[in-house]
Amino acid sequence: MSKQTVTPVEPSLSHVAFIMDGNGRWAKKRGMPREYGHRFGVKAFREILDHCRKLELKTVTFYAFSTENWKRPEREVRALMHLMDQYFEECEKNMDAYDFRICFLGDRGVFDEKRRARMDALEQKSAHRTRTLNVALNYGGRAELVHACNCLIEQGARSVTEDDLAGALYTAHSGDPDLIIRTGGDLRISNFLLWQAAYAELYFTDVLWPDFTPECLDAAIADFYTRKRRYGGV
Ligand code: FPP
Repeated sequence: MSKQTVTPVEPSLSHVAFIMDGNGRWAKKRGMPREYGHRFGVKAFREILDHCRKLELKTVTFYAFSTENWKRPEREVRALMHLMDQYFEECEKNMDAYDFRICFLGDRGVFDEKRRARMDALEQKSAHRTRTLNVALNYGGRAELVHACNCLIEQGARSVTEDDLAGALYTAHSGDPDLIIRTGGDLRISNFLLWQAAYAELYFTDVLWPDFTPECLDAAIADFYTRKRRYGGV
């Protein structure tokens, strides 16, 4: 990785979200199983997260496992969960060196007691930090909206405002992304941050996630600065 000093992002950019696509194809190109690609995907995730810290981004969100990813072969799902557990362990061990408040987006009810307890503990122990790392795990944008509506109904709501709904989403603590980056060449958002993406700038690149470097992120950010965000105005 580059040793050059990193210039912090401009105030117009505070939240970047990533759809980390292309691990499977990256592995296939090397004649390796998909799990191999995910291992290198985690390596890329670590490097990008570190770069985001240097860029002084306030919030970063990574789509790590979707509600649809359970349809993948059992071996691949197991490998992804193992990588996640390894990462949790790493965060637990390096809690003092760790710079971000970690938050999980998604329905954690599907995970066993042990993993849920770990996720809760990581959130609690890092809650005082000012920068936020959202990890979307068993996350789906539609499921999130349904969950938010049901929470509001349970609280007795008979009609809701946009603020009520935004406040009931998994992202209530961190708000909307300014920029969503998808690697791997596909031009869609795949059930990611459906509500929150309303005015996000979208950036697509053919680079496969394991090959996505800090320089690739810098290029996406440079592109973001050229965009005129009008939010429906003129
Ligand atoms: C999509 O690539 C990637 C995923 C479904 C998993 C992404 C997860 C990681 C990179 C690990 C994150 C880990 C932590 C600790 C946050 P794909 O498998 O769909 O690739 P393909 O489109 O080439 O098949």
